Amino acid sequence: MEKDRKLIIAGNWKMNKTVSESLDLIQGLLREVQQVKEVDMVVCPPFTALSEVSRKVIDTQIRLGAQNMSEQGVGAFTGEIAAEMLKEFLVRYVILGHSERRQYQEETDCLIAKKALAAHVASIKPIVCVGETLEQRESGVTNDVVGSQIKGSLAGLSSQQMLETIIAYEPVWAIGTGKTASSEQAQEVHQFIRGVLSDLHGDEIARQVRIQYGGSVKPGNARELMSQPDIDGALVGGASLDAKNFSEIILNSI
Ligand code: PGA
Repeated sequence: MEKDRKLIIAGNWKMNKTVSESLDLIQGLLREVQQVKEVDMVVCPPFTALSEVSRKVIDTQIRLGAQNMSEQGVGAFTGEIAAEMLKEFLVRYVILGHSERRQYQEETDCLIAKKALAAHVASIKPIVCVGETLEQRESGVTNDVVGSQIKGSLAGLSSQQMLETIIAYEPVWAIGTGKTASSEQAQEVHQFIRGVLSDLHGDEIARQVRIQYGGSVKPGNARELMSQPDIDGALVGGASLDAKNFSEIILNSI
């Protein structure tokens, strides 16, 4: 399948995997996808495993991501992790504004926008997550919700920074539920997001930004989702915890 944007598939391990389990997972994954060059592959282990996983992926095709970071530089912010600290482990990506953080840590679009800027300052590419709840979808306000999350969470980014930002559309009702958005439902929102990006930064930038889909992506539905014209990759939770499943998602997407 030909698309002029390179697919990017990222595994969000969430609050799973000890260091030794992380090492097993990354070694298993490297065995399966060592040779893949057609897709940008990213793993996002918990902070506690970044150091060890970093050693394993150095000089491979797999890149490292973090699941969150502070909007602040280093300093007196107990319990937080600064971008500079992530860079030490060659972290290239950071997931920001995941719906679980929006829900449980009450992260707002405004905070996420600050984090995205801080990530860019450190040359870490943010993966900014947006998505509606089931209630919002059923009441017909999906585009309003997603549109305002996009505008709010990406506020203040320059066009150059926008190009280096990845968006993940993750309908909240599809996360960890086994309910995937149909490829048509996903494509519809992805196309809408590209339209919003075009309003903000113009057609040329909007055409180049990569938009991932996330929410119960599995080996069996990856190909169909990735073949949609505006879907440029996946953010995978549950299925990324197993080397076979995650590698099949990657291989089935090529
Ligand atoms: P899931 O999670 O693949 O387990 O649905 C996706 C995500 O939360 O990024």
